[in-house]
Amino acid sequence: MRASKRGVSGAVGVTLVTAGLALAAACGRSPAAVAPPPAFVPGLGEIMSLQQMRHTKLWLAGEARNWDLAAYEVDELGEGFDDVVAMHPTHKDSPVAPKDAIPRMVIEPLAEVRAAIEKRDPAAFAQAYDTLTAGCNNCHKATNFGFNRVQRPASNPYPNQVFEPVVK
Ligand code: HEC
Repeated sequence: MRASKRGVSGAVGVTLVTAGLALAAACGRSPAAVAPPPAFVPGLGEIMSLQQMRHTKLWLAGEARNWDLAAYEVDELGEGFDDVVAMHPTHKDSPVAPKDAIPRMVIEPLAEVRAAIEKRDPAAFAQAYDTLTAGCNNCHKATNFGFNRVQRPASNPYPNQVFEPVVK
């Protein structure tokens, strides 16, 4: 009983080792035949959903006077727009190309928001934020997506994030 059990497990072991060697040989033989996976390019709508999140968090951070978090979100928004220009320089049959619209419509408002954050000036922040939001909506209109309207967030949809500044 005991001996035959050992015999079975020995046979399984040999089979596994053989299979392993066969696999290693197959992998080693033709590495060039395995095509790399295609690079993932998020759609413009996907990038915009991230922009929407950052736009919301930017407001909540500014409202809470959490200037470090606001500075972070404004940088993230800038990077998101860089991604749009790099990945979607043109879009469907849009009469205005995102690569042209972004420098014209949101780069200056983003700089204004950044300046208000650096000054830690709530009134300037609110004003610059509204200018940015108008830039978002102007671009939606210009690209035939005027039905997508954004605004100051009416409430906080992020119950698991602390927006108040860290007390140092
Ligand atoms: C290039 C001009 C442009 C700018 C600037 C722009 N958007 Fe968009 N946005 C678009 C286009 C085009 C779409 C539609 C994309 C698609 O085809 O799915 C869109 C879609 C959206 C959507 C809908 C996403 C969804 O799937 O529900 C939201 C929300 C959005 N944008 C938010 C913003 C916010 C917030 C800003 C500013 C911080 C902004 N956008 C700035 C062009 C722009």
